Amino acid sequence: HSDGAGSISPRSAANAPRPIDRPRRLRATPAMRRLVSETRLHPADLVLPMFVREGAGAPMPISSMPGVVQHTTESLKSAIAEAASAGIGGVMLFGVPEHKDAVGSGATDPDGILNVATRIAVAEAGDALVVQTDLCLDEFTDHGHCGVLDERGYVDNDASLQRYRDMAIAQVEAGSQLLGLSGMMDGQVASVRDALDEAGHTGTPILGYAAKYASAFYGPFREAVQSSLEGDRRTYQLDPANRREGAREIEFDVAEGADIVMVKPAMSYLDVLADAAASSPVPVWAYQVSGEYAMIEAAAAHGWIDRRRAIEESVVGIRRAGADAVLTYWAVELAGWIR
Ligand code: PBG
Repeated sequence: HSDGAGSISPRSAANAPRPIDRPRRLRATPAMRRLVSETRLHPADLVLPMFVREGAGAPMPISSMPGVVQHTTESLKSAIAEAASAGIGGVMLFGVPEHKDAVGSGATDPDGILNVATRIAVAEAGDALVVQTDLCLDEFTDHGHCGVLDERGYVDNDASLQRYRDMAIAQVEAGSQLLGLSGMMDGQVASVRDALDEAGHTGTPILGYAAKYASAFYGPFREAVQSSLEGDRRTYQLDPANRREGAREIEFDVAEGADIVMVKPAMSYLDVLADAAASSPVPVWAYQVSGEYAMIEAAAAHGWIDRRRAIEESVVGIRRAGADAVLTYWAVELAGWIR
């Protein structure tokens, strides 16, 4: 018990009340801390996003994402082998095509870079990794939007769905084992599910980027895929201010048949993630995006934060908030530390 608020006499140390609860007991040694840890990182819960560029040459560094490259189809092979031996859960592939057009033709072309990369990755990965593909048009369109545009330049929802359906079939035929629907068109999960089932691909699961926010933290990604986007994605991605709307999008994707749902970005949206983890009947993943990666790398490069501790803490925080798995550009390096 404590002194009354009116007390003025300083209490001697000998008479001071001693705490009854002493949580420090369980923090005293590394072994004890490890034993009582509530959240563990495991390589199998990590997914590595990878960029694959069309054309010859060497892997190209992405300046705003130090340590991350645009792979060639050749360097992809060794990177997949490395990911497999690190024991991570899977990889998420993004294509960087040489030519872009208004409808993103490269996305549905069996010889488009993402589909080519998928075949290579699947052959290289064997049973060791789940090879996943980004199902969105923005890497393939010359205007950089996630869908096709109408005469006014507005992203046409239902016309984009038709492209997603075709893209889904092309990706499954290339061997993709999990489709990451990141375009944020209304009804995209139901539409793609229908297209897959109609084509007999009832066994291919869908990862719905259900609560994907219009975020400044995608900045470095634009360089990574050489996006030509002018303006922003606010007519289809969520307003960062909205928590309830995030929950609603999760509900829709689950109802439409998503096998897994995603919250993206991660660190600024941990409340949305915790809500989803509490209510979702399917696994909930989170994407620690390019800007989150860049921030920590930049601060660490300045010596302002301890790089390894910051990386581990950031991913533990995302898991603690409720993510069953985390997409992170540190997946392989982190797996090496926690194994
Ligand atoms: C859309 C897509 C984006 C990212 C993943 N999928 C970009 C966007 O929506 O603007 C961003 C990933 C990252 O920033 O790491 N295809």
